[in-house]
Amino acid sequence: MDDHERTREAWGRAGEKYVREHADFLAEARTATLFPRELDLLGPLLSRGPEVLHPMSGNGVDDHALVRAGARRVTGVDYDERAVASAQERADALGAPIRYLRADVPPFPGPDTAVDLVYTGKGAVVWVADLDAWAAETARVLRPGGHLFVHEAHPMVPLYELGADRTGVRADRSYFAASHVNDTFPAHGAVERQHTLGRVVTAVAAAGLAVVELREHPEPFWRPGGAEAAAWDGRLPNSYSLLARRP
Ligand SMILES: C[S@@+](CC[C@H](N)C(=O)[O-])C[C@H]1O[C@@H](n2cnc3c(N)ncnc32)[C@H](O)[C@@H]1O
Repeated sequence: MDDHERTREAWGRAGEKYVREHADFLAEARTATLFPRELDLLGPLLSRGPEVLHPMSGNGVDDHALVRAGARRVTGVDYDERAVASAQERADALGAPIRYLRADVPPFPGPDTAVDLVYTGKGAVVWVADLDAWAAETARVLRPGGHLFVHEAHPMVPLYELGADRTGVRADRSYFAASHVNDTFPAHGAVERQHTLGRVVTAVAAAGLAVVELREHPEPFWRPGGAEAAAWDGRLPNSYSLLARRP
């Protein structure tokens, strides 16, 4: 079994969580909002009522947040059958203008220049094996003047030992490794790609998108275990937001 199949199988097991916890996700979807640090960059774009594509949409809760902030319509794409079905059930239950497609991305489904915003992240870029194909597909589906927005874990995060009093660097990890096997995420056993920040920005630029802003944040987008860790005390990068524009 290759890394892609191994990851897909792990997400297949994790997809059961989206079904099992349907009621919780539905409750979250009713009030979901994006992080203030996302809205800082995205708020003005969402207020224009964009058509949005959300690759690797997972539980879909963020799609409700995007609609709440102004998106005209959101198309979520995920390869897990259960993730897509349960997210569609929630969107339909709430009468939200969100549809879900099942596809292994990249390539992205849909025609050229069809969307105003590609929104992705919170555990998405790490599953992309071919970053250049991912960036090229983003550029393909965006209308001229459209934007890519990524809010993602900082690539330093897999190196942190999440102690309550101090942060160590894991002896078994390197910032420059190509990948590691996930041991904390719902998709335990999946192969996470370690794209450095330099690689992500370079792939986006090489696809012809102009970087508008790259912000590194001390806050994590997700706190495994829920407990406080010294790595989240404000001194280290835990997430980043990248906004790029198709000229
Ligand atoms: C952490 S989750 C989703 C992140 C999403 N923003 C959320 O908060 O739910 C990652 C999702 O990516 C999907 N995924 C991973 N690799 C994929 C691929 N190659 N094509 C499509 N979906 C993929 C998984 O099925 C999973 O639902």
